Amino acid sequence: LDRKVRQNNWEESNFINYKKMSENLAIVRARLNRPLTFAEKILYSHLDDPHGQEIERGVSYLRLRPDRVACQDATAQMAILQFMSAGMPSVANPTTVHCDHLIEAQIGGAKDLARAININKEVYDFLASACAKYNIGFWKPGSGIIHQILLENYAFPGGLLIGTDSHTPNAGGLGMAAIGVGGADAVDVMANLPWELKAPKVIGVKLTGQMSGWTAPKDIILKVADILTVKGGTGAIVEYHGPGTETISATGMFWLTYPHATICNMGAEIGATTSVFPFNDRMYDYLAATKRTEIGDFARSYAQELREDKGAEYDQLIEINLTELEPHINGPFTPDLATPISKFAETAKKNGWPEELKVGLIGSCTNSSYEDMSRAASIARDALNHGLKAKSLFTVTPGSEQVRATIARDGQLQTFEEFGGVVLANACGPCIGQWDRQDVKKGEANSILSSYNRNFTGRNDGNPATHSFVTSPDLVVALSIAGTLSFNPLKDKLKDKDGNEFLLAAPTGNALPERGYDPGENTYQAPPADRASVQVQVSPTSDRLQVLSPFNAWDGKDALDMPILIKAKGKTTTDHISMAGPWLKYRGHLDNISNNMLIGAINEANGEANKVKNATTSDFDAVPAVARDYKAKGIKWVVIGDWNYGEGSSREHAALEPRHLGGLAIITRSFARIHETNLKKQGMLPLTFSDPADYDKIKPDDRIDLLCTGLAVGKPFTMVVHPKDGKPFEVQLSHTFNEAQIEWFKNGSALNTMAKANK
Ligand code: F3S
Repeated sequence: LDRKVRQNNWEESNFINYKKMSENLAIVRARLNRPLTFAEKILYSHLDDPHGQEIERGVSYLRLRPDRVACQDATAQMAILQFMSAGMPSVANPTTVHCDHLIEAQIGGAKDLARAININKEVYDFLASACAKYNIGFWKPGSGIIHQILLENYAFPGGLLIGTDSHTPNAGGLGMAAIGVGGADAVDVMANLPWELKAPKVIGVKLTGQMSGWTAPKDIILKVADILTVKGGTGAIVEYHGPGTETISATGMFWLTYPHATICNMGAEIGATTSVFPFNDRMYDYLAATKRTEIGDFARSYAQELREDKGAEYDQLIEINLTELEPHINGPFTPDLATPISKFAETAKKNGWPEELKVGLIGSCTNSSYEDMSRAASIARDALNHGLKAKSLFTVTPGSEQVRATIARDGQLQTFEEFGGVVLANACGPCIGQWDRQDVKKGEANSILSSYNRNFTGRNDGNPATHSFVTSPDLVVALSIAGTLSFNPLKDKLKDKDGNEFLLAAPTGNALPERGYDPGENTYQAPPADRASVQVQVSPTSDRLQVLSPFNAWDGKDALDMPILIKAKGKTTTDHISMAGPWLKYRGHLDNISNNMLIGAINEANGEANKVKNATTSDFDAVPAVARDYKAKGIKWVVIGDWNYGEGSSREHAALEPRHLGGLAIITRSFARIHETNLKKQGMLPLTFSDPADYDKIKPDDRIDLLCTGLAVGKPFTMVVHPKDGKPFEVQLSHTFNEAQIEWFKNGSALNTMAKANK
């Protein structure tokens, strides 16, 4: 294990550290004295303090040292802007940025890409220059979808990666624990802070038997979603094991290498922290095919730790027999509503789902393997041989430039075009709603079928009436030929051009390209040797990007006589605090996006959203406007919140905005933990009522003193309330600050603290 094996073919000095990982594991093993699951092995081998770390699945918070960070272009903007404010010369851990989310599908790959490069020029220029400056690998627009690029280049067995995108778990296809996180977490790891994760529970999925015919790996996860539902994986890692993870399927076609990735990718749909497959020969073959034989060999020497221990116990166990597994279609509107193909036509009819299939879409990060494309093309070719083309509109989104170039060379792409397909850019496109769809009007009920992963209302085309279903690429192609949801290719016949009936042949395709992968155009920008002279490009007049200045340190004083900006009633999610939708355009511009701060929260005083009284003028105005007025007048303010304040996605803007607009504390009945931590990171005070009933004692017009000088670990925090009429009274607050986090507050933020330490 002493060998120096590079993590990938792009970076000269980042190595796989199996030696350190095995040493950490030995320490943890001696302490726990029980067999470990593979998921645990990956996490515990990356502990910051294997000796002292408390370890209880589902209970303790692990402090981890991930091997890598990856960001997509939408989330990378604020992450890098924050990182820059720490004043460090380069990222502390290997990081890459991938331009995939901002490319809209209109007419086809090349033109759509050229248009996107033009529209998003300032964002791409910023990311490219910041990556060059801070030693980050930059994948240009057109390179492909983040998860496919990670799989092709960066994932390695036993590694730990965090990525600012929910489908980061895709890299589990190569035995890596890859976890989707918010931007704040990515910044921590870039800046060398340990990364915190609640020790996940482990759900075991035992695969037995062998797949055949029309059943595809996608059906495994469609079935798992059916069993576990969209919430069933929350707080857990899904660990696949058993003979079905190894075996080539009965037809000899599925090598279950890349298909692992499809299954792990869509584990995000059941809320799982991530999903993993044990290292096997199929992964070795894929590593070899992607020019990483040395990593494959190194992994073989560490193989006993790249799978579960004998007797490892799971918190929950599911068994799936692949021999009996039917092809499934999941949806509409939710990925866990699974219907086997044999019942689909009938179910669609019963539920009144629009029968005509308007569009079939294959590819995306979920299903872009060479094998996926080859199988899909084999079905399209079968149809063409019978004189048929797609009846539905049909699109192909290659996951990467490498996949696109390889299937262009090997003919599958031409088959899709002959079939009537439009080949879109190597990017997220319709999967993330970047789709200028023209064939139906907004509000018109219609059905679409994709090989993607997520099908929530409006996700693909912004039309709430679109019934979006997810399935394998094979079924997408087959149903696109028939143009209807009521077609079952396993038993329904089609009519060829002469009116003769025929049954489509079951799909076939090579797992790996016989002639190797064609890398296509070079779309990677490595950091230059001389980074000092690189200027990060942010126009001072930009409305999409703004350089962040470090927040001010605490003034060392108690904060007296503060107004309550809003006393929020009921649910206040991160979406209420920092709304998405059109605001996402400003995600790299803190001042502009702050105009959405708390505009969704309900003011207890009047039951309305975004209408609060300005304590200095008594006028009612929008929440951000009042906050700005206080800030301009040098007045700090607080928010009073209800239960589980800040639940929802871990959006860092929800913590950055109140800090930017001059807030000092958020005082609630309780917090969603991630938001609470995010607030601490930005130098704010998340505090809770020691007696939750005290929430009711506070009136929106009261003034607040916070005795910040008394902030100490484990000690209650005192708030003095000055009612408009009546005597001041004290309320006891609680907090969860530890020593290190108190330093964040004192220094103004976690990043300021990091910067100070680095100086
Ligand atoms: Fe992109 Fe869709 Fe995957 S948005 S990262 S292709 S889930």
